[in-house]
Amino acid sequence: MKVISLSRSVTDSNDRDAEKLRQALKRQGVTLVNLMSSPGSGKTTLLSRIIRDMGDRVSIGVMEADIASDVDAKAIEQLGAKSIQAHTGGMCHMDAGMTKAAFDVAGFGRGLVFLENVGNLICPAEFDTGAHLNVMVLSVSEGDDKPLKYPLMFKTSDALVISKTDTLGYFDFDVEKASRRALALNPELKIFPVSAKTGEGMDALENWLAEKTKNNEANMTHEDCISLAIEALENSYSPYSHFRVGACLVTPEGDVFTGANFENASFGATICAERCAVGNAIAHGKRSFSKIYISCDSGYAWPCGICRQVLNEFRSGDMEVWVGSKDSPWQMKKLSELLPNGFGPGIGG
Ligand code: THU
Repeated sequence: MKVISLSRSVTDSNDRDAEKLRQALKRQGVTLVNLMSSPGSGKTTLLSRIIRDMGDRVSIGVMEADIASDVDAKAIEQLGAKSIQAHTGGMCHMDAGMTKAAFDVAGFGRGLVFLENVGNLICPAEFDTGAHLNVMVLSVSEGDDKPLKYPLMFKTSDALVISKTDTLGYFDFDVEKASRRALALNPELKIFPVSAKTGEGMDALENWLAEKTKNNEANMTHEDCISLAIEALENSYSPYSHFRVGACLVTPEGDVFTGANFENASFGATICAERCAVGNAIAHGKRSFSKIYISCDSGYAWPCGICRQVLNEFRSGDMEVWVGSKDSPWQMKKLSELLPNGFGPGIGG
């Protein structure tokens, strides 16, 4: 299991970063659910149940944010879900920069990813993480007056899960009253009383999650890939040639990985944008690519000989190589045209 230490992002533009992350994840077919609650509300038990119930329908990843420990991530991993532990270094919430940093190393594929935010009802509500859904968990043992005490949490949530309903007989918790108070703050709030232990109410919650996941299933469009390749230019490190190149590499499943060229004072050590994108994808476990989009600032940058050879190693079928830029219409050639009679896997070895 990966453990990552995070520090608060330096930018004060959290909302902008969050919106960017939300859109990028949607394009990758990821639905991110930000789970927020007090400590002890039963988030990990709830997640375990969801993984067991939905795991064969949708790929589920879990990002555990904690000040220091990794007990929750270990429990989740035992259920076979991909999980990453993010240590917030004492911070009481996750922000968009931290969420993105954790995503970058997690290697989650498309599907449903839960961010188990730090356990408290105050600051997690104040920071947009880039999630598509904010879900708050309130356990029966915590009392039905929580909406009065933590209004912002209820206002920013899309759904309220009232957990541990199997213990309703032991606590003075009125589901009706809690729901009324919560709805007064947020009339759009979906409310799911559940017991992860007995399974009561889980169907409604899981169907809602499945429905919401569907909204993000749309594959990256051709236009999305072009935009990503052009955006990737911004990360080019090209102080010697001043020739910026950005690339967006696409797997047959529709996952995308971007790259930018990075040069070196010893010129031969320069890495092109295409190979940067390939390295990025390889590090996330991908080995097969169906398309690549390559942009420079103006005109066309067809891949160099080394990049053609590298792409040939990992092509899925005959790869489409798209080139263009903001001012030049995009054109496509098959890799087999760019590297005829190419040397590749299966030959010579
Ligand atoms: N470059 C790429 O990134 N991709 C290519 O396929 C051709 C060249 C970069 C390398 C170098 O940083 C700059 O363009 C000028 O050669």
